Amino acid sequence: MRVFLAGATGAIGRRLVPQLVAVGHTVVATTRTESKSDLLRSLGAEPVVVDGLDAGAVGEAVAHAEPDAIVHQMSALTGAGNLRRFDREFAVTNRLRADGTDYLLAAARAAGVRRFVAQSFTGWPNERTGGPVKTEADPLDPNPPTAQRETMAGIRHLERAVLDAPLEGIVLRYGMFYGPGASDEMLELVRKRKLPIAGNGGGIWSLVHIDDAAAATVAALERGRGIYNIVDDEPAPVGDVLTAVAEIIGAQPPRHVPVWLARLAAGEVGVSMLTQIRGSSNAKAKRELDWMPYWPSWRDGFRYGLAPTADASRG
Ligand SMILES: NC(=O)c1ccc[n+]([C@@H]2O[C@H](COP(=O)([O-])OP(=O)(O)OC[C@H]3O[C@@H](n4cnc5c(N)ncnc54)[C@H](OP(=O)(O)O)[C@@H]3O)[C@@H](O)[C@H]2O)c1
Repeated sequence: MRVFLAGATGAIGRRLVPQLVAVGHTVVATTRTESKSDLLRSLGAEPVVVDGLDAGAVGEAVAHAEPDAIVHQMSALTGAGNLRRFDREFAVTNRLRADGTDYLLAAARAAGVRRFVAQSFTGWPNERTGGPVKTEADPLDPNPPTAQRETMAGIRHLERAVLDAPLEGIVLRYGMFYGPGASDEMLELVRKRKLPIAGNGGGIWSLVHIDDAAAATVAALERGRGIYNIVDDEPAPVGDVLTAVAEIIGAQPPRHVPVWLARLAAGEVGVSMLTQIRGSSNAKAKRELDWMPYWPSWRDGFRYGLAPTADASRG
């Protein structure tokens, strides 16, 4: 397939390009920065410089590329970390999820593109009642913390737009990425003991190794339809994740703090992430995409899969 990959230089894009090329796809890959073109070329893609929030430029780039499929991996999450101002930290990402998606879909329609894969997220968007692990059929949280409402609206917009569009639309709800280029900030927080276990540490986290996320994206591009959770096999309480990751990287164990202190430091979103959120099931992705995570447990992924040389070409 000829694939137009929007947002190719980020954590997932860099791991995805080589996997697409390895199975025979031709990749036209975007960046906003001319100087990153060489990187994209070295990964095996044909670079194109375009701003995803410039509707005209997006239309031209897609028309010129004449792709069979578009993969939307644009986000603006570098440096985002302040949970108290979650929506503000996600403001540009939310525009990329709303306007950016609409521009790509309009361009897809104009150019007769058949398939469209877009990045969404799973974990905190799940409803925070009932069982600990949710499927794609479960509702999204109808009442997220105030500081996450605009971001939830961005996610809902992206998903609806892609699924309602007159083409083969695929939404990938990735869990929390880790792996080469994807978890440095988290590891730094664990090392500095700045990610505490709040209360019982009972929020459920679903993680996914970045190379497994990329492999699932290739599979979804080729055979998916609809929504998929792309996570590993082991949703786990935050307390277990932080304790194990600290041990694996040789850091001191995480601090324990009462919920009121977590609220003071990280607001409602922090409390939600640490004590309330639900995990996600990958059963549908495994069943329909003929995909299995190479790292089924984050425990092994963190222990053995963080080196940048970890193999990005296995499918
Ligand atoms: N599911 C998850 O857990 C998840 C998902 C995404 C990101 N993250 C994390 O967030 C951190 C930062 O993510 P990241 O490395 O992917 O970087 P990022 O800053 O989120 O950028 C991602 C991609 O979007 C592109 N982009 C940004 N703004 C754009 C715009 N206006 N128009 C077109 N393209 C645009 C960037 O390309 P250029 O800058 O080259 O233009 C880049 O290729 C990483 O630690 C990552 O693991 C986690």
